[in-house]
Amino acid sequence: MESNLWLPFLQEIADRADDIALKFFRARDLRVERKSDLSPVTMADRAIEQMARELVSERRPELGIYGEELGESGTNSARLVIDPIDGTRNFVRGIPIFATLLAIEVEGEVVAGLVSAPALKLHWHAARGHGAFCGSRRLQVSRIANLSDAQLFHGNLSPATADYLPPGLIPLMAKVERTRGFGDFYQHLLVAEGCGEIAIDATLQPWDIAALQVIVEEAGGRATGVNGERSIYAGSLLSSNGLLHDTALAKLNLR
Ligand code: IPD
Ligand code: CA
Ligand code: CA
Repeated sequence: MESNLWLPFLQEIADRADDIALKFFRARDLRVERKSDLSPVTMADRAIEQMARELVSERRPELGIYGEELGESGTNSARLVIDPIDGTRNFVRGIPIFATLLAIEVEGEVVAGLVSAPALKLHWHAARGHGAFCGSRRLQVSRIANLSDAQLFHGNLSPATADYLPPGLIPLMAKVERTRGFGDFYQHLLVAEGCGEIAIDATLQPWDIAALQVIVEEAGGRATGVNGERSIYAGSLLSSNGLLHDTALAKLNLR
């Protein structure tokens, strides 16, 4: 099936996800629980993933599912990869930077992705070979080729996460024009939009990466792990405008 034909189905899931997320966002009675890794999860995270699973079994039963909250189902060669709410910590604190991340993976390759951030009223999508868009606006990464002109975005830099941080991260940050800690999905989409050149998240899961990888790549950028591996299973994400990717990788790994 042509990659862009998955987008209407992803949009349908996203529309329903947006309604659920906005119903719970800033709600006084939002219940927050802790998962075994102590990260927060809410009724909204669970309800969105459950809704997506029901929609898949109704409309696209040929798809398997790989989701953050309810795990893996099916051994199908094509599957939906879903993070029902990326930025749950933002969501529970009333910060509007959260999104549902949806991707279709076919035989190990992401062919389509959609990110919907309803509190920001923004959504981004891409299908392999068909470009990346924010709404109807086509995305193109920046042409900045010098680190000294670059903006670098990052997630958590707490010393408590020092084990995960690439050894050259702080030296690399010293070489760029400006750094900002937007974190989560948003920083990688800013790279796809051409608003920055490098975004780094040192520890991520496949559902965090899948939709972002295809959007960044279709905007002309590169998306790999901080070790350079191009895989949604790489465990981290370095996205860039492409021109600065190898330089960033070399510096991050002190080469
Ligand atoms: C989190 C975000 C964040 C990453 C964390 C994840 P969640 O996802 O993806 O960027 O640094 O490791 O847990 O829990 O908000 O879906
Ligand atoms: Ca996530
Ligand atoms: Ca999540």
